[in-house]
Amino acid sequence: MLEGKTAFITGTNRGIGKALVTEFARNGADVVAHARRDTPDFREWCAALASEHGVTVTPVFFDLTDSEAMKTALRSLISSKVPVDILVNNAGVAHGCLFQMTGMARIREIFDINLFAMMELTQFLLRYMLRRGQGSIINLGSVLGLDMPAGSCAYGLSKAAVMAFTRTLASECGPLGVRVNAVAPGLVATEMADQMERKAEESMMAQCAMKRRALPEEVARTVVFLASEEASFINGQILRIDGGKV
Ligand SMILES: NC(=O)c1ccc[n+]([C@@H]2O[C@H](COP(=O)([O-])OP(=O)(O)OC[C@H]3O[C@@H](n4cnc5c(N)ncnc54)[C@H](OP(=O)(O)O)[C@@H]3O)[C@@H](O)[C@H]2O)c1
Repeated sequence: MLEGKTAFITGTNRGIGKALVTEFARNGADVVAHARRDTPDFREWCAALASEHGVTVTPVFFDLTDSEAMKTALRSLISSKVPVDILVNNAGVAHGCLFQMTGMARIREIFDINLFAMMELTQFLLRYMLRRGQGSIINLGSVLGLDMPAGSCAYGLSKAAVMAFTRTLASECGPLGVRVNAVAPGLVATEMADQMERKAEESMMAQCAMKRRALPEEVARTVVFLASEEASFINGQILRIDGGKV
């Protein structure tokens, strides 16, 4: 579905990001796989995946909150003439806590990673997509940013902003050939969900019609669809991947 395309995906050393790189490579895309830390294991994994699927999987490393490191890595990517057709803003951090028990510093930290760093990266790469008059951006939202249950004042609110950003950017970029969409997963079987408080998980599970966590691959396959020409007239949408509501 993605032959001849290049996708830039953030936060790919584990969880949903890892499944995204695998699914994109399996569908014939060349991938620029971002991670925070440079490790031999990650480089080996990228190389093995590339040779398995006959694509390139190029690792890039920076902390999303380090603006200078981000710009240096992106400039070097652009100067090597890699055309980024697809951007998947996947990296993120979770935090569940009642508003009165959440310090402002923590809320700012969550927004810095989940929203502002993602916007900065998007602004940089979007420029090149707009010049070429084509592209597809997919942001990782969350059902918590749509439903906003108690405890969502930091993470849920940042994801609500990510999804609102998706809609306004889709309106701005649609006429210029770039589609922007988001997915809103429920619980997904990754370390992030493992760290969730038991009570909060039980409450999400009680509302899930399919009574299980999503597999990271199920999220990744939906993102591949949104990135592909199969979704050529889908723009500004927030797609729930949550097994349905009770
Ligand atoms: N799991 C769920 O239930 C669920 C549900 C809905 C939405 N989501 C969203 O899906 C996305 C992926 O979640 P996941 O479950 O795969 O999470 P995860 O397993 O916790 O992985 C998070 C990824 O983001 C990276 N990251 C975090 N902060 C970073 C920073 N400052 N700079 C660079 N990279 C950073 C992590 O890198 P390190 O390994 O270096 O920390 C890791 O690769 C997130 O946006 C999350 O909010 C997840």
